[in-house]
Amino acid sequence: CGIVGYIGTQAATEILVAGLERLEYRGYDSAGVATVDEGKISCVKAKGKLFNLRAKIEQSEYKGQLGIGHTRWATHGKPEEHNAHPHLNTDGTLAVVQNGIIENYLELKEELVSKGIEFRSETDTEVIPHLISVFLHSSSSLMEAIQKTIDRLEGAFAIAVVHAENPYELIVARQQAPLVLGFGQGEFFCASDTTAILPYTRTILNLENGEIAKLTPLGVEMYTFSGDRISRFPRTLDWNPTQVEKQGFRHYMLKEIYEQPAVVRSSLDTYINLNWHADENPDYSPVNIGLTPDMTDNLEHIQIVACGTSWHAALVGKYLLEQVAGIPTTVDYASEFRYSPKPVIPNTLTIGVTQSGETADTIAALESERARRVNLDPKYHARLLAITNRAESTIAQICDCIIDTQAGIEIGVAATKTFVAQTMGFYFLALDLAYRRQAVSNQRISEIVEGLRQIPSQIETILDTQADAIEELAHHFTNETEDFIFIGRGINFPIALEGALKLKEISYIHAEAYPAGEMKHGPIALLDNKVPVVAVAMPGSVYDKVISNAQEAKARDARLIGVTTAMNATEAGHTFDDILTVPEVDEIVSPVLAVVPLQILSYHIAAIKGLDVDQPRNLAKSVTVE
Ligand code: G6P
Repeated sequence: CGIVGYIGTQAATEILVAGLERLEYRGYDSAGVATVDEGKISCVKAKGKLFNLRAKIEQSEYKGQLGIGHTRWATHGKPEEHNAHPHLNTDGTLAVVQNGIIENYLELKEELVSKGIEFRSETDTEVIPHLISVFLHSSSSLMEAIQKTIDRLEGAFAIAVVHAENPYELIVARQQAPLVLGFGQGEFFCASDTTAILPYTRTILNLENGEIAKLTPLGVEMYTFSGDRISRFPRTLDWNPTQVEKQGFRHYMLKEIYEQPAVVRSSLDTYINLNWHADENPDYSPVNIGLTPDMTDNLEHIQIVACGTSWHAALVGKYLLEQVAGIPTTVDYASEFRYSPKPVIPNTLTIGVTQSGETADTIAALESERARRVNLDPKYHARLLAITNRAESTIAQICDCIIDTQAGIEIGVAATKTFVAQTMGFYFLALDLAYRRQAVSNQRISEIVEGLRQIPSQIETILDTQADAIEELAHHFTNETEDFIFIGRGINFPIALEGALKLKEISYIHAEAYPAGEMKHGPIALLDNKVPVVAVAMPGSVYDKVISNAQEAKARDARLIGVTTAMNATEAGHTFDDILTVPEVDEIVSPVLAVVPLQILSYHIAAIKGLDVDQPRNLAKSVTVE
């Protein structure tokens, strides 16, 4: 869900709705805006997509130059219009939008109901306008009433508030949910994500936890929740708005798949040390990720926390960190880690992987890791590293170091280029650590670097030579196919997981992935001629094993699709019904290639089915709730 707020010289409504459209990718199921004009609040809400809201707005004229807008992804209460934000107080003079969860809302609601206040929604948010209203009676300003309200709120939230009687104030606050302020000329903005306000300004300031800001036509005042004034300089982003345009592609997801060669090239340019040659025995690392020695010295253990696709990138990372750098590595879902963390091990590096930089569970896992280690002996202290494309995000800020993956912002809800870029981040980290610890020979490091340098043109080859054939193949699975199984082994097991996730996210076809050797221990019972099996069979240490496992599926009449290299295609032709071919590649770098045909296959299946590829049902790009 997302928040947008505006105060300035133009009519707010269009800016708010356009801003919400730029947040659409985050996922939502209802939307609304409230503007202040001539001492009154006008509030319009609609269930479903933003065009429903636009259609309603077009029926009247809204001139107010102050307003707030919201897209809601249902947590408490169904996605119905009465639950959409903004929420108003009883006399309709105050409007609030909120992103997050107010954990103690039931208790607050009971208290307010006992005062005779009637609620119009099932949301947790509605307690906020009513509380502010109550506190306004005993406060000298709107700001004070909001501060008193915030004192009563428990949970994670970002809020924006407008009040009919304070037509020159937009008040916003942040506690564990993202909120950025934008500085224009005589106009000021707030939003859950910079994309919403990028067409108007690139000068931004991230609100931090426990901060509240008053935006007026003359400027911005910032305070802590306890009322102390704060000053901070905004900064200017070097993005341009075209980064968030479709640029002629039918969907953002397709555009982002096609951006992958450029993203990988950019990450190689940023991090690979071109002067490094193994045979010259260089005394510096082949990669410049800029990790300080206190992050990497004496490492005994690496633990990675992530969610969704980022968790799959973490699994590729684990393989590399263990097999190339020789460091024991664990990977946990952030949502699990935060409630059942591993026993503390000294000299541990903790890595958060995230494309949004705002995932609530990953933030909580990293913060709890820092907190539980802080009073221990220094060798137990947390060392936090973020692997992300959002250097300005919350997770990037709370970590000690970041690897900026150079993927830029991603709009399609199903992650593609950010996954490839995160995976590249792990190659750089593993190579750096392998070099520092001399875990493998410089020669081997050199081979891996060389392999990585081929990736951009190899992805281009896949896009140029395979995309049409994959689209053709996709037609076979758009009518009756209800289940898919993906298998892979070793470094490509996470690619099987990612292939299955992409497919279910956007095509709504049930798909599961298994390590190929596990298929015979259960999933094989599901197989018949209606369940296609995709085997990621990249030449290398486990190729023959994957082929045998694939044969086991074939013997159960499954339609077998293989992802393999051109050289193996003839041989693989005897096993597979269909082949998604990738260029010849060293097994160690093969995941970055193998994932691409699977992204394209999922994309086309969903596109042919006419589904909303960029905003699949029920999913959100940035999951800022627990
Ligand atoms: C959401 C997105 C996924 C993403 C996951 C983790 O579910 O839809 O694409 O993989 O969150 O998000 P993160 O931003 O932490 O990578």
